[in-house]
Amino acid sequence: MPAQSDGDPAARDGAGRHPLRNLWRLRPYLRPYAVEFAWLLVAALAATAASLAVPLVVQRVVDGPVAGHDAAGLFRLGLLALLLGLAEAVLIFIRRWTQSSSSVGMEAAIRADIYAHLQRLPAGFHDRWQSGQLLSRITSDLSVIRRFLSFGLLFLILNLVTYLAVVVLLVRLHPALGLLVAASAVPLFLISRRFARHYHAASRRMQDQQGDVATLVEETAQGLRTMRAYGRGPELAARFTGGARALHDTGIAKARLLARTSALLDLVPNLTLGVVLVAGTAAAARGALSIGELVAFVSLQLMLIWPVQSLGWIIANGQEAATAADRIQEVLDTRPTIVDAPHARTLDRAQVRGRVRFEGVSFHYPGCAPVLREVDLTVEPGETLALVGATGCGKSTLLSLVPRLHDVTGGRITLDGHDLRDLRLASLRRLVGVAFEEPTLFSMSVWENLTLGRPAAGEEEVRAALALAQAEFAYDLPWGLATRAGEQGLSLSGGQRQRLALARAVLGRPALLVLDDPLSALDVHTEALVEAALRRVLRDTTALLVVHRPSTVALADRVALLDNGRIVAVGTHSELLATVPAYRAVLSAGPVERHDGAGLVRS
Ligand SMILES: Nc1ncnc2c1ncn2[C@@H]1O[C@H](COP(=O)(O)OP(=O)(O)OP(=O)(O)O)[C@@H](O)[C@H]1O
Ligand SMILES: [Mg+2]
Repeated sequence: MPAQSDGDPAARDGAGRHPLRNLWRLRPYLRPYAVEFAWLLVAALAATAASLAVPLVVQRVVDGPVAGHDAAGLFRLGLLALLLGLAEAVLIFIRRWTQSSSSVGMEAAIRADIYAHLQRLPAGFHDRWQSGQLLSRITSDLSVIRRFLSFGLLFLILNLVTYLAVVVLLVRLHPALGLLVAASAVPLFLISRRFARHYHAASRRMQDQQGDVATLVEETAQGLRTMRAYGRGPELAARFTGGARALHDTGIAKARLLARTSALLDLVPNLTLGVVLVAGTAAAARGALSIGELVAFVSLQLMLIWPVQSLGWIIANGQEAATAADRIQEVLDTRPTIVDAPHARTLDRAQVRGRVRFEGVSFHYPGCAPVLREVDLTVEPGETLALVGATGCGKSTLLSLVPRLHDVTGGRITLDGHDLRDLRLASLRRLVGVAFEEPTLFSMSVWENLTLGRPAAGEEEVRAALALAQAEFAYDLPWGLATRAGEQGLSLSGGQRQRLALARAVLGRPALLVLDDPLSALDVHTEALVEAALRRVLRDTTALLVVHRPSTVALADRVALLDNGRIVAVGTHSELLATVPAYRAVLSAGPVERHDGAGLVRS
């Protein structure tokens, strides 16, 4: 597997303009919790106020009852301090109690939105994005944001308010020293700003690397058999170790950055405290400051140490949340390109005849050379058209345009004269039954897998579809149709999966069948049976099938030869055999070399 794209080309340049812009854009998710958050803040601020009042009480105690030996006064003020302490404890309890619930609710809401969004994004998006990147965004990035909203943000506000309140109280106690403490905010600000800048880059790197590691794990899980078979385990392990080490190194670098900054930040209040102690004692000796005031001053100042110490952590947390928000918005900002047009209409199965026309259809994958050029092709109602061509010539691509997994980039495709883009997607996809080359089953029951596109299908319909696809083996599975197919259906054989996928495609008698080499994984005997069964369905359904083998071509009324993105010949099998050497060449090459998908990374 060549290491090609890095997953998400749109990302990795740290996109957003202001670092906090994307975090700010998540505010609608907080709206339901605004009242709760306000209460939280009120409780927290009240607790802070209570704790700030304690040093002021102490000041009264020292300057009043202690100096004047007034026992009754001492008792009264002591009781007040006790009550303040109690109030603070209760308020903090209330804060902690309410703190987590709102942010968890918000996290769940964003997660649900991302998931819904991912489902609306076209196949092209998932071609480009590594699934590990999506996984890490929908899990770890979201919890980073939750942590910030439930702790970081609250403490940021709380600490700022504490700082301001303390400075005001200090200035009132002793203007000069108070202003000195206020001035210490300048170095704090400068240190923080520098830290924030550096930390932003590091945390973006780390979160991307987390996505890379998740991708590696996912690939390993999916491709385990291929890797084992080719003895590539050690190589893969080395790749993983590389990724994990990069993640580890970034983690260490981040931790060191935080440690250095915290030490610097710590220095500032401690130095100011030293200055205040010396200058304050001198002032008290001169009588410019009472002992009580000095005690209050120092106690208040000590209350600044924790807010300053936690500053580094809060900024780190905020930066991580900001990068997480960037990464989440990168997904949410990708607009689904394949959507219902405003005037899109629904076609009833009963009114559809099933005439499919490709009119000058061109297609290229984003940023790639054209795969299809000016394809003109008509499949008449009830007709079966086989598409033949060398490997990689664009057959699967052409099929994928019919259920609009991709949209044509030129020309149009019509169904009974309606441009596919004028039909509602849901309606179109109900009309079209598809089975791809790589029959994907989901980790749910066989029944659920079969009725994926038609949840309302009944017992009889399912039985008929299974019979048609020669897939009655499903009834003999340990729990019959309730048997859970493993992830990607890997607990079933290739031929079994293919037959189930075929049954799924024909279930509910779609108006149009689109099958990509439906018989490739079957043995000769089963192939003959499925072929016979298919012949019956194909009699009254319009079908477009890709075939590789001469034997399957016999299913088709007509054959189209695709070469280098163009239809170069259309006719019956015998006509083409007789007149088109290229057709003979493609078919006689036997089972054309194909990538069989097993174990390959999703490409
Ligand atoms: N998601 C994608 N993004 C970019 N290019 C793609 C993508 N899928 C296929 N291609 C390219 O488009 C071309 C046609 O691929 P396609 O799968 O349609 O071939 P095919 O005719 O079905 O081949 P095969 O017979 O092997 O199944 C190939 O060159 C392939 O590399
Ligand atoms: Mg193909």
